[in-house]
Amino acid sequence: MSIEHVPPTPGWHRSGRARGPAGFLSRHRARRAQRDYEASVVAFAHALRGEFRETCTGLHICHYVQVAAGITVRTPRVGEVRPGPPLRFTVELLPGQEPGDFTAKQNGPRIAHTLGGHGLRVEPLAGRWVRLVVLQHDPLRDGFGLPSLTVPTGAEPVILGRTEDGTTLGHAIADPAHLGVQGQNGSGKSAFCYGLLSQLAAAPDVLVTGSDITGLLLGRAWDGTAHRPHQVVGTHDLAAHAVLLEDLVAEMDRRLAAIPPRRDKIEPIAETPTVLVVLEEFPGLLRAADALPKPKRGEGVPVGDRIRTAVLRLLSEGRKAAFRVLMLAQRFEATAVGGGYARDQFALRLSFRVPADSLEMLHGTDARPLGQEHANADPGVAYLSGLGRDCERIRVPYLGDYGEYVDRVQAHGRRAES
Ligand SMILES: Nc1ncnc2c1ncn2[C@@H]1O[C@H](COP(=O)(O)OP(=O)(O)O)[C@@H](O)[C@H]1O
Ligand SMILES: [Mg+2]
Repeated sequence: MSIEHVPPTPGWHRSGRARGPAGFLSRHRARRAQRDYEASVVAFAHALRGEFRETCTGLHICHYVQVAAGITVRTPRVGEVRPGPPLRFTVELLPGQEPGDFTAKQNGPRIAHTLGGHGLRVEPLAGRWVRLVVLQHDPLRDGFGLPSLTVPTGAEPVILGRTEDGTTLGHAIADPAHLGVQGQNGSGKSAFCYGLLSQLAAAPDVLVTGSDITGLLLGRAWDGTAHRPHQVVGTHDLAAHAVLLEDLVAEMDRRLAAIPPRRDKIEPIAETPTVLVVLEEFPGLLRAADALPKPKRGEGVPVGDRIRTAVLRLLSEGRKAAFRVLMLAQRFEATAVGGGYARDQFALRLSFRVPADSLEMLHGTDARPLGQEHANADPGVAYLSGLGRDCERIRVPYLGDYGEYVDRVQAHGRRAES
């Protein structure tokens, strides 16, 4: 091309010449590309409207209108379409419809699958308009690490997990809620607690105590810290678990008796820290304790019953005394966790992978539509209720292998004052 023959000097001259014809051509091409793009968006939007209309008809998210010629179907009108990704479009609800109709009865994934996505998010807009977002893949598919963080006080929130829309959820252990965590073997319960406890290990106003028959969550990892003397592990001495829990109840009673006048609860400080009572694999502890030979009549209470009684008291009366129970179980069956009343005390409930009926048992019928999907959840994906929010799926952070947990507790764990 002629541009090749332009003498190389001066620079401005060359570029000035070059801009002439090439500039026109590229502007022309850009305009044409823009037009093509706009035409493709219009065609895409048109196709989407048709597809969405059929989806709504198929799922009965529509009105049937009697006209002279028979019955016609009215479906929610599609407004603006943005191809994304993620694909987003606005929709005007028909009279009587609610935003939740698009996600009720497993409709969300069905609509998304038809439109080539994984899941559907509904965002209410002004008036009767909502925005539907077709998620390309499960937003909880990718894990996220937990930086080596600790909170300086139990009043500060620790990271619980991340929601589907990327919000990080926190919870302060000083807030009056017991935590119930269920999930099948290998679903990530313990790993979740590694993250939780390592964040709390340094706080001067938190004491991490409890019972752990596995000896991994509590126990050796905490050697040398101020928390360790308040932890009982293993199955060789089950009565020791009962003794620890009864001691905690006694401390709770002392605190309740000492609540200052005109106060209705203990303010956690270093002298009276928030006591986090961890009960790892609690049903397993009860099973093991119940398998012990029963004491003869009049010769004391069976160990299993002592444990149940102590835990029930901590659950029902502990909140005011700054006691928080963190119970882990494969399944929160009433009989397995010390009764239906005990189960009702958990304000914050997390379910890792569990069969659909277990999910509903802990989270109520709201969770039913998610049951099937959640029965195959990846490790670390949990269903959460509490925190004053609707039930939702979250991914909990993962701090890595077990050695990392031990290192963090050893590095940050509060030491006893000498
Ligand atoms: N948040 C997570 N992200 C990724 N992998 C995880 C996560 N949590 C757990 N895992 C994996 O799953 C395995 C089992 O987790 P674990 O917490 O021991 O399950 P559980 O206590 O429910 O039996 C872990 O060894 C780890 O490999
Ligand atoms: Mg475990």
